[in-house]
Amino acid sequence: MRKWIVAGNWKMHNTIAESVALAKAIKDGASGFQDGTIILAPPFTALFNVGETIKGSSVLLAAQNMYYEDKGAFTGEISPAMLKDAGCSYAIIGHSERRKYFHEQDNDVNLKVKKALTAGLTPIMCVGETDEERVKGVTQDVVGRQVKQGLSGVEKIENIVIAYEPVWAIGTGKVATTAQAQEVHAFIRGILKNLYGNTANDIRILYGGSVTKDNIGDLIAMEDIDGALVGGASLKAEGFLGIIQNISAKK
Ligand code: PGA
Repeated sequence: MRKWIVAGNWKMHNTIAESVALAKAIKDGASGFQDGTIILAPPFTALFNVGETIKGSSVLLAAQNMYYEDKGAFTGEISPAMLKDAGCSYAIIGHSERRKYFHEQDNDVNLKVKKALTAGLTPIMCVGETDEERVKGVTQDVVGRQVKQGLSGVEKIENIVIAYEPVWAIGTGKVATTAQAQEVHAFIRGILKNLYGNTANDIRILYGGSVTKDNIGDLIAMEDIDGALVGGASLKAEGFLGIIQNISAKK
């Protein structure tokens, strides 16, 4: 049985005070949901304070990005050790906004995934096709490439979470249909099975892209959808807790 995960990606939102208030509200509201994993990914500046706020609870902390070197002259970058020091146990890697605006390539994603694993952070590796790619009918080519290259040289998959986030669904209100999402999730699991055998059955594959408490119920009922990576709807405690509640009720 795969345990569900709900991760809130706050992106470039919230001051430290706002982050702490939101984290506290989520921690308090989520205390009854012990059957899955709840993860918050605040901006870097708020990581430590949010980590302190959720300490001792079952809510865990993620970074939205990290660099693949341990230390050195890399102005503006953050190492995995720094993230662990701030209280993180997860790192979102290869989010489509990183790929689009900051030109991250599959190779960067691969280096980051490998580094996160050696540093003891669980990567949440994001993949997904653009609108243009879906229309062209190359969704599986694109997602297949992202998964295989992202995991290139990774020998053990146990400590990896994958997030399928169709780019056209992120922040657009255009959520994938249950059939569209399940098809790609099953496709990803098939690749993992080829690469890693039956361990693939234990890997959580999250859906992301315009998830709300109103649409998550149908998505989470799909066989290969194991949780959600949530952007916009994670910025208000009520909406985020509603997603957790609806996932917990169905899985
Ligand atoms: P969204 O973002 O829920 O606002 O569509 C999802 C994400 O980018 O992880």
